Amino acid sequence: MDKLVIQGGHPLNGEVNISGAKNAALPILCSSLLSEMALSLRGVASLKDIATTISLLEYMGVKVLRKGDFVKLDAKEIVSKEAPYEMVKTMRASILVLGPLLARFGFARVSLPGGCAIGSRPVDLHIKGLQAMGAEIHIEHGYIQATAKKLIGARFVMDIVTVTGTENLMMAATLAKGTTILENAAKEPEVVDLAECLIKMGAQIEGAGTDTITIHGVDKLLGAEHDVVCDRIEAGTYMVATAMTGGHVKLKNARADLLDAVIEKLRDAGAKIESDSNSITISSNGNLKSVNIRTAPHPAFPTDMQAQFMALNTIADGVALVTETIFENRFMHVQEMLRLGAKIEVEGNTAVVQGVRNLDGATVMATDLRASASLVLAGLVASGETIIERIYHLDRGYERLEEKLSALGAKIKRIH
Ligand code: UD1
Repeated sequence: MDKLVIQGGHPLNGEVNISGAKNAALPILCSSLLSEMALSLRGVASLKDIATTISLLEYMGVKVLRKGDFVKLDAKEIVSKEAPYEMVKTMRASILVLGPLLARFGFARVSLPGGCAIGSRPVDLHIKGLQAMGAEIHIEHGYIQATAKKLIGARFVMDIVTVTGTENLMMAATLAKGTTILENAAKEPEVVDLAECLIKMGAQIEGAGTDTITIHGVDKLLGAEHDVVCDRIEAGTYMVATAMTGGHVKLKNARADLLDAVIEKLRDAGAKIESDSNSITISSNGNLKSVNIRTAPHPAFPTDMQAQFMALNTIADGVALVTETIFENRFMHVQEMLRLGAKIEVEGNTAVVQGVRNLDGATVMATDLRASASLVLAGLVASGETIIERIYHLDRGYERLEEKLSALGAKIKRIH
């Protein structure tokens, strides 16, 4: 298994290109199932989760052409309307084929995702929303089996804000008969990007990016071309890396307007940030102040940046409270950071982080995607050598991480 070896203590300087967002690409790739005409995408990052989604779509019969960050999907002939356990268990976002398959073909069989490292993560709202649109759904042998002659538009209130739930129901509703109103919808930029792509395909959607999304069903969707929005979490991760190590980095293909809560916290911590419509520049002398963090749905502070800010707080001046409100078990990086000399105590869903002068390099283990990123950040400032094991988590969501960091001056290499 691959490992990362990092020699800490080198500031980051230069320019880095931010990739297209994984969490936008995943639903958009699945949206190709809604149409028998081709969908052409740019900005599709080379990531394990993207490869898994493409394999799943190919298994279903979608013809996929891939060149660099360009992907063309042709879902004219579908041979299987099933997402098997073997594929879904490696990536929960596979649930995103449920809505499109059911809407276009009236049938879908998708393995229940099961738990994952950061919490139980049920999909009850995906199911309830489709039932509200008239689907018959049974759970059998660990599979969600859904049928509907034709989905019917409905008003559905989600009692918890769910990103992929909103995306699944929005996709399903594009081909339903009549109007669907999704209340308490997720407002994440990736939901907006999916809506923009669906609109290009001929869907009638209003309100994406607000609490209420209205979808007027149409008979069919057409082909389209779309550029995937930039990855705000990747951008945020490089910003925290620069703030922690000290240095001056320009992020290209990055949008500050998608990162308001993160940028505000970085400024509070002492970093200087400037931006224009397509780039963000951050500089820091590495002397940071602790910042309290409380995760919540967009536009509040994203749970996918919580672990990275935990890393920042481990070396900042003062004591920070980091509260996780979205997932019940998203503090697994804490145990590993303690091995690097951090001072953190966890009480329920809050971690109390007392900043220390120095972290010490050690061998640590990556446990999930963003936790892994936080360990890389800690390694970049720890004295001596940090070895990060089980980095396949990082490959799920960060494109060419060690290459991009090396180009900025980090001493990081992958060993096989
Ligand atoms: C998405 C992102 C993930 C991010 C998360 C929260 C993708 C592929 N993944 O995950 O990176 O961390 O949003 O911003 O976009 N819930 C239910 N019932 C449901 C669905 C969700 O109770 O049917 C709960 C979850 O357990 C969790 C909360 O709702 O506590 C939010 O989860 P959700 O927004 O659905 O996360 P994902 O869409 O899986």
